[in-house]
Amino acid sequence: MRAIITGGKGQLGRAVEEALAKHEIIAPGHETLDVTDGAAAQRLISELRPDLVVHCAAWTDTAACEREPQRAMVVNGEAPGIVAAACHEAGAAMLYVSSNEVFDGEKGSPYDEDDATGAINEYGRSKLEGEHRVRDALAEHYIVRMRAAREQGSLRAVTDEIASPTWTFDLAEAIAKLIDTQAWGTYHLTNSGYCSRLEWARAILDLSGLQVPVEPATLAEFGAPYRKPAFSALANNNGARLAIALRPWRDALSDHLRWGEAQQAAAGPPSQSGNRK
Ligand SMILES: NC(=O)c1ccc[n+]([C@@H]2O[C@H](COP(=O)([O-])OP(=O)(O)OC[C@H]3O[C@@H](n4cnc5c(N)ncnc54)[C@H](OP(=O)(O)O)[C@@H]3O)[C@@H](O)[C@H]2O)c1
Repeated sequence: MRAIITGGKGQLGRAVEEALAKHEIIAPGHETLDVTDGAAAQRLISELRPDLVVHCAAWTDTAACEREPQRAMVVNGEAPGIVAAACHEAGAAMLYVSSNEVFDGEKGSPYDEDDATGAINEYGRSKLEGEHRVRDALAEHYIVRMRAAREQGSLRAVTDEIASPTWTFDLAEAIAKLIDTQAWGTYHLTNSGYCSRLEWARAILDLSGLQVPVEPATLAEFGAPYRKPAFSALANNNGARLAIALRPWRDALSDHLRWGEAQQAAAGPPSQSGNRK
C-alpha cells in the first residue's frame, strides 16, 4: 500500500509513519506541502496516486485558533475537504484525524461515535467542519477522534476538564490496524478510561517517583482564554467491534514516561508543548 501522511513532521504524523513502516510512505511536512494550497495538494495526490491519505496536518494551537478563527477554519475546516476531494479524484481513501473537542462536554458520560456534536471553541468548530467536509466529499473515509496526552509543565492543574488522554504511539498502532479494515466511518480511538487534568498530573508525578504537591484549580481559576468541554471522554464502540481497542491511559502513561526519559537522555531537555492540540 502507498500512503501519504499530511502534517508528516508533527507528533502524530511521525508516529503514524513509524507504525506504517511496512508500507510505502510519503510524509511531507508543512514546508513541503501546505494543505491550504489546494492546487498543490491536488497535484501531489494525483501524481502519487496513493491508496490512502492520512490527514494529520492541522493548526493545533488552540489559543491561537481562538484569536484567528478564520485561519483555523481554512487550515482545519476547509483543507480536509480539499484533500478529500483530491482523494475522490485519485481513487484514494482518507483518514482524517479529528478531536474530542467536537463535543460540548455537557453529556456527563463518555461520548459515543454518533452522539450529537456541538463544539464550543474555535478549534473544535474548525475540526468539526473538517469532519463534515470529509464525509461530504468522500465515502471511503475514516474519521478518528482523539485527545493527545501532553504534559502542561505546570504544578497547578484543573479538576473540571475530564477526558481520555491518549499516547500517540498507541493511537498510531490502532490507526495501522484500522486502515486494513476498509470499515469506513467514525471512530473514537483513545486510551481507555478517563481522568481530570489534576489526576493526570498526579499520575505523572507518582509514576516518576516525585513527591511534589499539585495545586487543584478550576478552568475558570486557570483563566483559559476560551471555553473547553468539561467532560469529553470518548467511548470506543466502533473500534472495539473490530477488535481495535487501546489499553488504559495509566499503562500508556507509564510507557510514555519511560520513552520520554530515553528521548531526553539522547536529546537534552524537553520543550513544553503549551496549548497545542
Ligand atoms: N494534540 C492533541 O491533543 C490533539 C487532540 C485532538 C486532535 N488532534 C489532531 O491530531 C492531528 C495531529 O496533531 P498532532 O498532535 O500531531 O499535532 P502537531 O504536532 O501540531 O502536528 C500538526 C502538524 O500539522 C502541520 N501543519 C499545520 N498547518 C499546516 C498546513 N497548512 N499544511 C500542512 N501542514 C500543516 C504542523 O506543522 P507546523 O508546526 O510546522 O505548522 C504540524 O507538523 C491533528 O489533526 C490534530 O487536530 C490532536
